Amino acid sequence: MYISVFPCPYHWNTCNVLIRVIRVISQDFYEVIYRRRDVRAQFNGGAIDPEALSRVLSAANAAPSVGMSQPWDFILVEDVPLRAKFAEHVEQERIAFANLLEGDRLSTFEKIKIEGILDSSLGIVVTYDSKRGAPAVLGRNTIDDAGLYSVCLAIENLWLAATYEGMGVGWVSFYQEEYLSELMDLPEHVRPIAWLCFGPVTHLEETPDLERLGWESRRSLKSRVFSNRYGSEEGLDKWQL
Ligand SMILES: Cc1cc2nc3c(=O)[nH]c(=O)nc-3n(C[C@H](O)[C@H](O)[C@H](O)COP(=O)(O)O)c2cc1C
Repeated sequence: MYISVFPCPYHWNTCNVLIRVIRVISQDFYEVIYRRRDVRAQFNGGAIDPEALSRVLSAANAAPSVGMSQPWDFILVEDVPLRAKFAEHVEQERIAFANLLEGDRLSTFEKIKIEGILDSSLGIVVTYDSKRGAPAVLGRNTIDDAGLYSVCLAIENLWLAATYEGMGVGWVSFYQEEYLSELMDLPEHVRPIAWLCFGPVTHLEETPDLERLGWESRRSLKSRVFSNRYGSEEGLDKWQL
């Protein structure tokens, strides 16, 4: 629910505080979670408020990480020719995937927009530095992927914070890692994890694109929870899933 406080009779600073308090009480935590969408077609290309971007990136930087290694970095890509170059590469990868499909699957896929690289206001490349805090990263000794998991948690924080701020995020993974590494001048030990299209949107769709366009639908929670052993549903009724 949005409540307008304008025209505000108080000093602008008081107004700002008021707006933030109203946001806190009107945007329930779970509401933000369910409102979040992967955005492709709804970017409006508008300007990004630097303070909002700072809050969003701070939220990402506050994510949990294995051994507190914070193995992420965020590259803000404003340069349009650079983004256009990446978009061309993504288009080639989109075609390569389409070439693997046939019949209904192909015609459904052709209706899906898979990126908003040039429509969004900013690209954010999120990377993983496996050497951060190494060699003794507490908790990564047995599971090397724990570093990657940490980066994904930072991305989820970023995504939810952007939703809270009224902006959109679209994760693009139709690329060859080597291509993006080269484009971003990444050192050998730093891996690109995501290209995020980022910025103001006209609106967020209520239903995920893949569901609306008939590619895939969300599985129910009940079908995804087991009891004591994988596949067992014994005694699950009491949890009201
Ligand atoms: C790791 C990852 C990679 C993704 N890559 C793409 C992509 O390349 N193009 C795209 O359109 N959506 C991509 N998505 C978005 C998913 O399609 C989307 O999250 C899913 O359909 C559910 O929709 P929702 O995020 O709006 O709930 C990606 C999401 C994740 C988590």
